[in-house]
Amino acid sequence: MANTDLPEANGNRPWPDREAQLVRGELSGLAKADLPTPCLVVEQGVLAGNLARMASHSRATGLRLRPHFKVHRCVAIARQQMDLGAIGICTATIAEAELLSQCGIHDILWTSQPAGPNKIHRAVALAARNPNFMFAVDSPEVVDLVEQAATAARTVVGLVVDVYAGLTRQGIEAGSPALALAQRVHASPWLRLRGLMGYAGWASHTHGWEARRERSRRELVGLAETVELCHRAGLPVGLVSGGCTGTYDIDTDSVLTELQCGSYVFMDTEYRAIGSRHQAGEFTDFGLALTVMATVTGRPQPGQCTIDAGDKAVLRPTDRVRGMPWVTIENQGAEYGILHWGPQDEPLRIGQRVEIYPTILDQTTNASERFYVADGDRIVDAWPIMGRGGPAQR
Ligand SMILES: Cc1ncc(COP(=O)(O)O)c(C=O)c1O
Repeated sequence: MANTDLPEANGNRPWPDREAQLVRGELSGLAKADLPTPCLVVEQGVLAGNLARMASHSRATGLRLRPHFKVHRCVAIARQQMDLGAIGICTATIAEAELLSQCGIHDILWTSQPAGPNKIHRAVALAARNPNFMFAVDSPEVVDLVEQAATAARTVVGLVVDVYAGLTRQGIEAGSPALALAQRVHASPWLRLRGLMGYAGWASHTHGWEARRERSRRELVGLAETVELCHRAGLPVGLVSGGCTGTYDIDTDSVLTELQCGSYVFMDTEYRAIGSRHQAGEFTDFGLALTVMATVTGRPQPGQCTIDAGDKAVLRPTDRVRGMPWVTIENQGAEYGILHWGPQDEPLRIGQRVEIYPTILDQTTNASERFYVADGDRIVDAWPIMGRGGPAQR
């Protein structure tokens, strides 16, 4: 029975009823204005443009694309990336890799190494179920433990040697140490050397295209030397993976054979500020496709309003309000944010919807269970965000 105390959505359906419809994939008549806030809205046309642009860059340059799942954690988007020619998907966790594999996406690179029995056994078990799965390693101890588990499971496990490229969190020292690790992997009957990787994560957000190019080149020198050493030693280097959205048009003449770009699907305000090759100050090669939609809930003070998105929605002062570049953002707790405007600006009204471009995508998407896909004001789809928290993420 309909609960008449609840506000009615378009089409005279109360929200709980709509929620049940959404779960069944029935969206007819649903509009942005009907959505409960805060929620994540993806602009369908902008997303499609971003996906197409990176896919055509990959085709034009021959630099293959293995996009990172951590940014969207959405199987529907991963499938679109594969349909457009991606050779596989990168994941940040073993849980994401298990999830994708269960969903029929098999060419997976987990860009981190397993440590401890839980993750080592899961990685080997996934390799047994899905021989195309591979993961990064940068420590001889981990290789020893993976080999023991692989031997016990009688499973050949694909590994990628992760070489230091400027981020101190990961990567074995380039040159002889990395070569020795690659030789160690190649020598084992239960391990298969698939290639090398080097993630120049500091280069990604370096402001200014020339400075970014300089940094990316510098940070990939060790990886290039290691690839050369491996070739001379007769090791099979089937792939050299790395790169990111910020360097997608820089790494084309590097040692990389494939790009791990993630953020290009949606973009965020932090990336927007790095500047692109042809536009200093703004990186506009890919459009802003994701917003956190919020509602103005109060106006207790002049020149500001309260919105229903705060820390739990990963609101940040560096976010930007769509269509209102003059508005500044302040956090005021878990469920509250404040928007400020100047004396000359038009005030926001109670009940008004605002759409906020986030600063850091992977944290924002981690805070929601679903993307609402919009075509203008119409909601045309709803895609689950998977593996975003709790056991599903670990
Ligand atoms: C190992 C690795 N590769 C690639 C990426 C994707 O980078 P971006 O989102 O900047 O394109 C990330 C993101 O953090 C990463 O951790």
